[in-house]
Amino acid sequence: RKISLTGIKPTGMPHLGNYMGAIAPALELAQEYHAHYFIADYHALNSVRDAHELRQMTYEVAATWIACGLDPEKVLFYRQSDVPETFELTTMLMAFTAKGLMNRAHAYKALVQANVAAGKDHDFGVNMGLYTYPILMAADILLFDAHVVPVGKDQVQHLEMAADIAQTINANYKDELLRIPRAITHTNTALVIGQDGRKMSKSYNNTIPLFIPQKQFRKKIMKIQTNSQEIHEVKDPQQCSVFALYSLFATQQQQEDLAARYRAGGMGWGEAKTALYEVLEEIIGPKRAIYNELMGDTAQIDAILQKGAEKAREKAAAKISQLRKAMGFN
Ligand code: TYM
Repeated sequence: RKISLTGIKPTGMPHLGNYMGAIAPALELAQEYHAHYFIADYHALNSVRDAHELRQMTYEVAATWIACGLDPEKVLFYRQSDVPETFELTTMLMAFTAKGLMNRAHAYKALVQANVAAGKDHDFGVNMGLYTYPILMAADILLFDAHVVPVGKDQVQHLEMAADIAQTINANYKDELLRIPRAITHTNTALVIGQDGRKMSKSYNNTIPLFIPQKQFRKKIMKIQTNSQEIHEVKDPQQCSVFALYSLFATQQQQEDLAARYRAGGMGWGEAKTALYEVLEEIIGPKRAIYNELMGDTAQIDAILQKGAEKAREKAAAKISQLRKAMGFN
C-alpha cells in the first residue's frame, strides 16, 4: 500500500482549519493508504519554550487525532521526538539544501518583511529552528518514503522544497534513494478562514479551537465578524464568513436552505451563526466527549504513542542505514 503522511505542530489546541485542512482529509486517506500521522513536537520548540506547556499541547494534539477517528491499530501514530532518526536525516539533508532555498520559505520571508517594515534588523527574532524549518519537515516526510502528504495550502511550498531536496540527493547519488512526495490539498478546505475573514491561524488569534467547552465554542462562533447589514436587508451568502464555514460542514440541502434565508431578508446574523453552531456542534460534540475522556487519562495516550514510536523507529532505522551506506558512512 502507498504511504500517506502528515504532522501537526503542538502549539495550541487544533482548530477548525487544522481539522478541515488536514485531519479530516488525512483520516479519509487512511482508509486506502498506509497512514503515518505524527505530532511535530520539535517543530513546536521554535515557539513553545515551557516544558509543561509543550507536554500538555502534545497531549492535546494526540487526543484530537484519536477523538477525530484515528485508529492507532491501523495508523502508525507517533511523536516526532520519539524518532531521533529524523534528526540524523535532517543533518544529511542540510548538506544538500541551498541557503537561498530557505531564504524563500514563506514563514521566514514574512518575518523578515515585518522586521524591515518595522525598521528592525532584518533577522530580528529569527532562530535557526525557524530558518531551517522546511528541512526538518522534509526529513519527517522523506524518512518514511511518503507518497502523499495531506496538508493545507500554507504547507504546499514546504512540500515543494522537500521534493526539491530529495531530487538533489537522488541526482547526486544517481539512485532513487528518496521518494519524491506530493502534497494533497482540496480546493474548498485548503484555506479555512477564521473569525476575522483571514486564514484561520493561531498566530492571528482568530481560531475556533475544536474541543474547548461547548459554551465557549458557541461564543467563538457568535464572534465571527460580519458586515453591519440589518435584519430586514437581503444578504449575500457568497460574501459572508459565516456561510463560508457553514458550507464546509453542512449538507447540500442545509446549504441551500440557509442561502435562501440570506436572500429572503428578515434573517439576522445571530440566526445565521446559530445555524452554523448547530451543524458544527452535531459533528464536534461527540468527538469532544472522547477528547475529554482521553485528556483525563494521558497514560493511555502515552501507551499508544509508545507503541507507535517503536514501529516508526524500526522503519526509520532501516531508511537511515540505507542512506548511510549510499553516502559512504560505514
Ligand atoms: P500546523 O501544525 O501549522 O497545521 C497542521 C495542518 O493544518 C493545516 N492548516 C490549515 N488548513 C486549512 N485552513 C487553515 N486555516 C489551516 N491552518 C492550518 C496546515 O496546512 C497543516 O496541514 N509544518 C506543519 C507540520 C509538519 C508537517 C510535517 C506536515 C511538520 N512536519 C510533515 C506534513 C508533513 C505545520 O506547521 O502544520
